[in-house]
Amino acid sequence: MQELSQTDQSLEEASAYLRDNWGEVIPDTCMICGSGWGPLADDLPDSQSLPYDQIPGLSATTIAGHNGQLHFGKIGNGHTLIFQGRRHLYEGDGWGPIRFPILLAHKLGVKNLLLTNAAGGIRSSFEVGDMMVLSDHLNFMGGNPLVGPLSNEDMPRFPDQTEVYDYGLRSQLLQAGKENDARIHEGIYVALSGPAFETPAEIRAFGILGADAVGMSTVPEATLGHALGLRVCALSCISNKAAGISTEKLKHEDVEQAAGIALPKMKATVLSFLNRLAH
Ligand code: HPA
Repeated sequence: MQELSQTDQSLEEASAYLRDNWGEVIPDTCMICGSGWGPLADDLPDSQSLPYDQIPGLSATTIAGHNGQLHFGKIGNGHTLIFQGRRHLYEGDGWGPIRFPILLAHKLGVKNLLLTNAAGGIRSSFEVGDMMVLSDHLNFMGGNPLVGPLSNEDMPRFPDQTEVYDYGLRSQLLQAGKENDARIHEGIYVALSGPAFETPAEIRAFGILGADAVGMSTVPEATLGHALGLRVCALSCISNKAAGISTEKLKHEDVEQAAGIALPKMKATVLSFLNRLAH
């Protein structure tokens, strides 16, 4: 018999551990909370949580505002797995820790993937606190999370990316935002590795290329999730105007604070979306 890779072994162990703790129920949807989105999972009724460092293969988060708890709860008629905090390329540990939550969700039988993030607004009409549903992305991270041996039989070697962000889920997100009187738009997200924020010249260039918002995450998880056959969607909270669009200097604390102010609408939108999905 072929030996299991370290990742496959951790996936086996993690799914067994979660089944032991939470039973055999298959989650329908997985959500990854980016900067500012974590509190959404804090007071969900009908939910349980485990710290990342108790789950085989999941490593603790290193960034302020990324809590490192995995939640599992019933929302509407369906079950949702919520990763409260994500890993980023700039943390220096490569693609592995970014890929693992998506591989685990897929292994557990998840069908829908909702990715969230905080992003800098490039489109001039975007205000801090607005939300943007991703219609597409530009990958400027300097690499691709699918590089390497094909480890999963569900994944093609050369995945099509014509519609990474599922049209039906995008429409439901927009509808959920409108139901909650949120300022919500659709647009294109450009991802960079970070950790430095962009220069104003870079932001001008990305605007010319068609980007509406900029951030340091989401694209790897979307690329992998889509390649594995999950229905993917993603939602940005515009936490600041991108470099040079406003004259303010950028700080991570401001990003967190802005997302905190917009949180009630973010939370209401996501809960409406998850409730709709489950029907
Ligand atoms: N640039 C990159 N990442 C970000 C930003 C930004 O302006 N805001 C929040 N995440």
